[in-house]
Amino acid sequence: MKRALITGITGQDGSYLTEFLLKKGYEVHGIKRRSSSFNTGRLDGVYSDWHDSTSTLFLHFADLADASSLANLLGDIQPDEVYNLAAQSHVRVSFEIPEYTCDVTGTGVLRVLEALRRVGDGARYYQASSSEMFGSAIPPQSETTPFHPRSPYACAKLFGHAITVNYRESYGMFACSGILFNHESPRRGETFVTRKIARAAARIKGGLEQRLFLGNLDARRDWGYAPEYVEAMWLMLQQDQPRDYVIGTGETHSVKEFVACAFEHVGLEWQKYVQIDPRYYRPADVDILLADPDKARIELGWTHKTGFRELVKLMVDAETAALPAPERSLGRARAV
Ligand code: NAP
Ligand code: GDD
Repeated sequence: MKRALITGITGQDGSYLTEFLLKKGYEVHGIKRRSSSFNTGRLDGVYSDWHDSTSTLFLHFADLADASSLANLLGDIQPDEVYNLAAQSHVRVSFEIPEYTCDVTGTGVLRVLEALRRVGDGARYYQASSSEMFGSAIPPQSETTPFHPRSPYACAKLFGHAITVNYRESYGMFACSGILFNHESPRRGETFVTRKIARAAARIKGGLEQRLFLGNLDARRDWGYAPEYVEAMWLMLQQDQPRDYVIGTGETHSVKEFVACAFEHVGLEWQKYVQIDPRYYRPADVDILLADPDKARIELGWTHKTGFRELVKLMVDAETAALPAPERSLGRARAV
C-alpha cells in the first residue's frame, strides 16, 4: 500500500485529492492546523473515527510555519509521496497580510522540502504552484512563459516554485511543480469569486438575499473543475522524470461572463442585482490568464473534461441544493 502525506488536506484540493488517493488504495495522512472550530468539514465524506481500525485516512496537527512539526511528521510517516497544498491562498487577502502570506505560502515550501531532504527517504514531492505567478505575462501562458507576479501571494508562490526546481537540481529530489490555473467546485472557499457568485445567484433566486457586491468584472480567468485537477497532480508523481507542468483548460472567460451565466441559469437578469464595490478591487490585479496545457496533454495524457458553462451550472445547482427546503423549492419554481 502506497502512503501519501497531504498538507492542506482540509482545503478544496486537499479533500478531492484525499478521495482520489483513497480510491487508488493509498494510505493517506494529512496535516491540519489547529483552529478554534472544526476545519475538517470537506473531509466528512471520507473521514471515520480514529478508533476505526479499518480506516486508511489519518489526520495530524502540524503547521507550515513550524518546521519541527513537519520534520517530525515526515520522519514518523515515511510517505512515498508528499503533496504540498497548504497555503494562505487568497490573493486579495495577501495584500492585507503580506508577511504572513510569504512565510506560509513561500517559506513554508522550503520548510517542507528541507524536512523531506533530511528525513524524507526519497519521497516524491508535488508543489502546488499557481498561474497567478504569470501575472501580467502575455497569454497564452505555458511552462516557458516568463513570470511577472502581481501580488504578495504570487511572489510567495514564485519563491515556492523556484525553490522546488532548485531542490530538484541541487539534490536530485523527485520534485515537481504543478502550475495550476484556477479550478473551482462547490467546495471552493466562499470568498473566491466563482463560489461567491454561484452562492449569491442561488440565494437571490431563493429570496434570501437581494444584492451581490463584486469588484473587477473584466478580469479573465482560465477556470476548470477541481476534481479533474487533482488527477494531474498525481500523474506528475507517477512519471519517470520529475518535471513541471501547466494545468488548465485553454479557455478564458471574464468574471462578467461567469456572473451572466450563473444568473441566467436561475432565470434572473444579473444587472438588476450586481453592484460594484471598490473594496473588492486589488492594488494590482491580473487581467488575463489563459493556459497553454499542451505539455500536460502530450506527456501526462491529461485534459480537462468539464467546460465553462457546465462548471457554472454545477456550482449554482450545488448552492441551490444547499438552500433551506422552502427557499429551495421557491428557487426551483421561479426557475421554470
Ligand atoms: P484552500 O481551499 O484555501 O486550502 C488551503 C489549505 O491550506 C487549507 O487546508 C488550509 O487549512 C491550509 N493551510 C493554510 N495555512 C496553513 C498553515 N499555516 N499550515 C498548514 N496548513 C495551512 O486552497 P485550494 O484551492 O485547495 O488550493 C490548494 C493549493 O493550490 C494552495 O496552495 C493554492 O494556493 C494552490 N492553487 C490553487 C488554485 C485554485 O484555483 N484553487 C490554483 C493554483 C494554485 P484550513 O482549512 O485550516 O484553512
Ligand atoms: N475574490 C473576489 N471577490 N474576486 C473578485 C471579486 C470579489 O468580490 N470581484 C471581482 N473579482 C475578481 C478578482 O479581482 C480577480 O481578478 C478574479 O475575480 C478572480 O478572483 P479569485 O476568485 O479571488 O481568484 P484569483 O484568480 O485571485 O486566485 C485564485 O486562483 C489562483 C490561480 O490563478 C486562488 O485560488 C489562488 O490561490 C490561485 O493560485
